[in-house]
Amino acid sequence: MLTLDSKLPAVGTTIFSVMSALAAEHGALNLSQGFPDYAVDPKLIGLVERYLGAGTNQYAPMTGVAVLRERIQEKFQRVHGLLVDAEQEITVTAGGTEAIFTTIAALIRPGDEVISFEPAYDCYAPAVTLFGGTMRPVRLVAPEFAVDWDYVKSLITPRTRLIIVNNPNNPACRVFSMADIAALAEMVQNHNIFVLSDEVYEHLVFDDIQPQTLLRHPLLRERTFVVGSFGKLLHATGWKVGYCVAAPALMAEFRKVHQFNVFSVHTPTQYAIADYLADASHYENLGRFFQQKRDFLLAGLHDSRFRVYVPQGTYFIVLDYSAISSAPENEFVRELVIQHRLATIPLAAFYHDGFSQQCVRVCFAKQQETLQQAVELLCAV
Ligand SMILES: Cc1ncc(COP(=O)(O)O)c(C=O)c1O
Repeated sequence: MLTLDSKLPAVGTTIFSVMSALAAEHGALNLSQGFPDYAVDPKLIGLVERYLGAGTNQYAPMTGVAVLRERIQEKFQRVHGLLVDAEQEITVTAGGTEAIFTTIAALIRPGDEVISFEPAYDCYAPAVTLFGGTMRPVRLVAPEFAVDWDYVKSLITPRTRLIIVNNPNNPACRVFSMADIAALAEMVQNHNIFVLSDEVYEHLVFDDIQPQTLLRHPLLRERTFVVGSFGKLLHATGWKVGYCVAAPALMAEFRKVHQFNVFSVHTPTQYAIADYLADASHYENLGRFFQQKRDFLLAGLHDSRFRVYVPQGTYFIVLDYSAISSAPENEFVRELVIQHRLATIPLAAFYHDGFSQQCVRVCFAKQQETLQQAVELLCAV
């Protein structure tokens, strides 16, 4: 008798697919999944077309085309004043997701423990489980989502192998303070613990906050894998091109997995992105671009019945509906779709135990018209 004993028995359809399907069924405005509803810069599209026609259609080098790795190196130097080696420390990946999966695959063995912070993006835990690791989630609570570093420290055991951070955090929309980064560095410095720093929203920071990378911290430089995403940077989530940056010894292990998993990434797109990023304003203006959208929503929702948590970063916003309904999040988001024609994501979806605190997440990577509609729908709730 053929049986397939699932390695991921607890994994079902993601909430993003569920909400998008529900939105389509009810003709609702879909602010659930995180993707832009406006066009990619025609200049970038033109570059991809040019490289498609220029014969760059065979396998790229396993590590990524050299000119794109050099651009990523330039970006680190320009934004963070940090020198990373394009040959030994940068690999182009199939989106941030592959960089995360590959890091976990390279590090985690059965019995290893991985500390992460919830609410958390959904691809970390399944990858850890696949390789026999155990998650040790730390629950962060709205509105501050503050980290109690003494508690985190208490979770460290001889089996702790990795700490996963997401900064700026989706969906908490918070950015680590210098004190948070110092506490993390101090905590791991005398242990054989690595750090996976998911920095895909690095440039989407608001007000006076500057982009950060954990690699800048001297104690974290040698042990941190940084993950980036051109999907987020270029408003093109469907292209699935990203990168990983880590010290040479770490990157060597990363590449052993990447080589036999993805091997290399879509060649013409890599060349196009490299050309496009020669103009640094394309990422340097991202914070301002999204802040306008955030501020429009904040002003529009001022008189709504939602309590709005002002995001420090990402293109999401958390809305607390406790003044409107006592329903748990999973029920409330269904009501929002069916009665108000608006799809959101329950924050509970980002906690392993479904912790519900009457909050939903809304994506504001949307054109002005969509945001106007969102404001009208939310104010009517
Ligand atoms: C926190 C976080 N990490 C990683 C990713 C995945 O990035 P990519 O689309 O480049 O695979 C996302 C996408 O939404 C994300 O929100």
